Amino acid sequence: MSGQVEWHNSPIGVFDSGVGGLTVAREIMRQLPNERIVYFGDTARVPYGSKSKETVTKFSRQIVHFLETQQVKAIVAACNTASAYALEELENEVDIPIIGVVKPGARAALAVTKNKKIGVVATEATINSGIYNRYIEENDKNVRIMGKACPLFVPLVEEGLWEDPVTDEIARRYLMELVDSGIDTLILGCTHYPMLRSTVAKIMGNGVTLVNPAYETARELKALLVDKGLESEHRPGLGTELYRFFVSDAADKFQRFANSILPYGILSAKVINIDEF
Ligand code: DGL
Repeated sequence: MSGQVEWHNSPIGVFDSGVGGLTVAREIMRQLPNERIVYFGDTARVPYGSKSKETVTKFSRQIVHFLETQQVKAIVAACNTASAYALEELENEVDIPIIGVVKPGARAALAVTKNKKIGVVATEATINSGIYNRYIEENDKNVRIMGKACPLFVPLVEEGLWEDPVTDEIARRYLMELVDSGIDTLILGCTHYPMLRSTVAKIMGNGVTLVNPAYETARELKALLVDKGLESEHRPGLGTELYRFFVSDAADKFQRFANSILPYGILSAKVINIDEF
């Protein structure tokens, strides 16, 4: 990073395949109120969870290139699938720090479990990558991990069916084997899933703690900014746009969704052609 840019006042880039990463952006807004955010949701190409590693890496690389044009000082891959498939490669390709959500999620679950049986619900891609197993086992070989892909959860969230009999029925089918498995901790390993938290909690029961990696991700981001001397010194003044949103399609739908979960109303989301990056 060089040139005339005052990096500590630059925004954080946050991206996801769609609206899911807003659950992470929301946590960053809460824990780091001085930081500006540029969010990109790849609404034209969601879902990522059923796509190949090559495709998810290509899409993620384009997004990182776009975020670089916005002069972001750090990037958060607020998408477990991109974190699982693309992060290691992209970390080596760009100068600015990039963090994902999987390592923080694994760390948070390890801090919570008492019986060392952890479940992970995520996209097919994240489960097949085995990345949560890898990070958890690196820290504790005695933990048993049970993964379950829940591919219909993302479209249910994107359609706003957060609490609905259809969602209950599908969640019950996906989660039954985890209920019977004796886990005491369940990682919501897809950034869309916190929107289904109450449905999942109802099915899993009181004995299972749900872990949303967003909290730990925002903490890790904060530590990283402090470590690199990149923290914003003060809250940007009036007239500075604190949060900016970009999507690859369907900006109105994205904006409605964002306004239903973020603490601040968003005025607009801009459509860009991500294939240009
Ligand atoms: N929200 C994303 C994740 O955390 C991806 C969902 C999808 O596009 O399939 O994995």
